[in-house]
Amino acid sequence: MSLPKAELHLHIEGTLEPELAFALAARNGVSLPYADTDELRKAYLFSDLQSFLNLYYELMAVLRTEDDFADLADAYLARAAAQGVRHAEIFFDPQAHIARGVGIGTVVEGLGRALDRSEAVHGVSTQLIMCFLRDESAESAMETLEAAKPYLGRIVGVGLDSAEVGHPPVKFREVYEAAAALGLRRVAHAGEEGPPAYIVEALDVLGAERIDHGLRCMEDSELVARLVRDRVPLTVCPMSNVRLRAVDILEEHPLPAMLDAGLLCTVNSDDPAYFGGYVGDNFHAVREALGLSQERLRELARNSFVASFLDHDEERRARYLAEVEAYEFS
Ligand code: HPA
Ligand code: ZN
Repeated sequence: MSLPKAELHLHIEGTLEPELAFALAARNGVSLPYADTDELRKAYLFSDLQSFLNLYYELMAVLRTEDDFADLADAYLARAAAQGVRHAEIFFDPQAHIARGVGIGTVVEGLGRALDRSEAVHGVSTQLIMCFLRDESAESAMETLEAAKPYLGRIVGVGLDSAEVGHPPVKFREVYEAAAALGLRRVAHAGEEGPPAYIVEALDVLGAERIDHGLRCMEDSELVARLVRDRVPLTVCPMSNVRLRAVDILEEHPLPAMLDAGLLCTVNSDDPAYFGGYVGDNFHAVREALGLSQERLRELARNSFVASFLDHDEERRARYLAEVEAYEFS
């Protein structure tokens, strides 16, 4: 049995494994510019966030129907469950699909089909978080929120992802205000490649309740003190940080220093099909590379449920937290 945990930073499009990409390409008559899965895997050598995003958006071409999105989410949930995930808050990128002529209804209804049966089939509870692409315009984000209105019953919150540098959070002030007025929770990627000031802006201007990545907070001691004081969760993605060159090697990842500073960190997989591992693999990797103690690992698992948007179901959160405390490391 694996350590029970919640996954809070997971892009569903980033769970598209090469085998499924080719299967969906065949099903939909889409041709991919790679001969086979081996050749595709050879393209998974990234120099930064943008080099990954180019492939991530390219492969989305195979996702066309509700069935495709349901199959994608089912495959992720099965893998996540096998690695101890009990609750998953799943990002999706509607603008990347709308731009290809795939409506937000197709995406949400397809994902929703897999999510609806997830507890029964995989034992994983789920929520959906809709992300805005920060390298698209603020107007496009607002149109996307408008398009999502019929589906808000299925969406717990909004996030902000894609190319960070040059696209500060302030650009999305209005759409985050509108999302808050609709009762949506707010998170934002910040401090992955962008400066600590973007984290401050995400908190002050967007009202972000969690910061996705947040790595670069460590360059600003005042900001660290604030994040500790206000118990702002950071959804850290160690294998992603290495693959996208935010840190050179896992052994130099700041996670231990972040935990020592008192930050409420969680460990997540981000885009596991592209970065070499799912969330359990990330736990394993940080244990090996950073020598984290069993109590540190338990703290990370506890933090994941504390930071999750389970406020409507505190009984469930308490149940998951009890599972973490009862877990015996082998
Ligand atoms: N950062 C920003 N945007 C993304 C990521 C990420 O790690 N994954 C998918 N979209
Ligand atoms: Zn991410």
